[in-house]
Amino acid sequence: MTQFMNGNTPPESHTHESANPQWGGRFASGPAAIMSEINASIGFDRILWRQDIKGSLAHAAMLRKVGLLTQEEENDIRRGLAEIGKEIEEGRFPFSADLEDIHMNIESRLSERIGEAGKRLHTARSRNDQIATDFRLWVRDSIDGIIGQTHALMATLARQALQYHDVPMPGFTHLQVAQPVTFGHHLLAYVEMLARDVSRLRDARTRLNESPLGSAALAGTSFPIDRTMTAKELGFDRPTANSLDAVSDRDFALEYLSVLSIEAMHLSRLSEEIVQWASAAFNFVHLSDAFTTGSSIMPQKRNPDAAELVRAKVGRITGDLVGLLTVMKGLPLAYAKDTQEDKEPVFDATTAITLSLAAMEGMIRDLKPNKERMRELAGAGFSTATDLADWLVRELRLPFRTAHHVTGRLVGMAEKKGCDLADLSLEEMKSVEPGINNSVYDVLTVEASLASRTSEGGTAPSNVKAQAEKWLATLAA
Ligand code: ARG
Repeated sequence: MTQFMNGNTPPESHTHESANPQWGGRFASGPAAIMSEINASIGFDRILWRQDIKGSLAHAAMLRKVGLLTQEEENDIRRGLAEIGKEIEEGRFPFSADLEDIHMNIESRLSERIGEAGKRLHTARSRNDQIATDFRLWVRDSIDGIIGQTHALMATLARQALQYHDVPMPGFTHLQVAQPVTFGHHLLAYVEMLARDVSRLRDARTRLNESPLGSAALAGTSFPIDRTMTAKELGFDRPTANSLDAVSDRDFALEYLSVLSIEAMHLSRLSEEIVQWASAAFNFVHLSDAFTTGSSIMPQKRNPDAAELVRAKVGRITGDLVGLLTVMKGLPLAYAKDTQEDKEPVFDATTAITLSLAAMEGMIRDLKPNKERMRELAGAGFSTATDLADWLVRELRLPFRTAHHVTGRLVGMAEKKGCDLADLSLEEMKSVEPGINNSVYDVLTVEASLASRTSEGGTAPSNVKAQAEKWLATLAA
């Protein structure tokens, strides 16, 4: 056999002896091995088994209700599917690539176990509406899990924000020290971002929550099915309205990946800040041992690997989104096998965001700010210059533009002397603006600057404390 340079062996291309037992009626021989290899999705779609069984149970109950199955047949199907569920759970299920996917693996096993009734289950249904249903159910479950994890991270951020609501740190624009803010305020900014992510996840969930089951292959069915019954049974709000759309639509997966991309981008930004804060140059925070690693060559190192990996995960999640968008582009109605490529990106992105949220929650929970260092830098770089300009407006009624100019000259003077604004004497101040008096010094401290920022959404510790408490109450409700 040929060997590729990388050591892999190419799959053999001879044919199987027998045709597929589920759809092989008109086929004389089985597929080429390479065909099975490219066709089979069981390697990754087995993860949908719970949703597949759930969908089949709902379908069977409906078939019984409309008279297409007897009560006895439905009972057999229920029992058979329960046993199959157990087999899968306990790792005893004989998954087969020849049976392509999770739907045919389960259906074939059902017939093996219960006979005739198992073969009736596929009445008025197709794998096309089956996969559309299973996949929606799976994404819906994942959305619920991710909302839960996001809420946990928000609560941890809010708890830290409450604890550090009055700890000053430099606020940056352009990564230049701009004005003092509090550490709590900075953490709560991420709570707001994550709250929008949750809101987007909920929106996506609402739009997703329609049942494709009963659309059959593409055109609906001639059987007198009750789609509202199966929709209700599966927790969907209603059946989908157009069978062609229902079997080919993957908007729900794309929307999910879009929302995850945005959330992963938020986590990436926070990760970047953690990486910066933990560097010796900033020295703003201490990360716990649990979320750092050592270097194999430099004994002094403590690397923020978890933050770096979360920072990077957005790359694969956005890649998953772009990958699926590209798969869907140009697909004609209705179902096409291309859509089988929808699953791996969604599974991959789900694993990535789940890990990221867990790691971020742990890092934030353990994070300890270096208050002295943050306080020191909060006052550096003339960070209270805006407070001085505001004082000139408020006390001397200078127009803001003029006050800005006066302050600029005072900053220039302090810079030349190598001192802070508060270190300029009153005489020096008066030489630039004669109206300045002693009370100006009250606004030049970091603490005064912070306390004054009481406008709605501002960084004043009193605001931050109230906001953190509000979030903790909301999240506990
Ligand atoms: N495994 C398929 C998928 O994931 C299920 C639907 C197959 N339908 C078909 N007509 N071959 O998309």
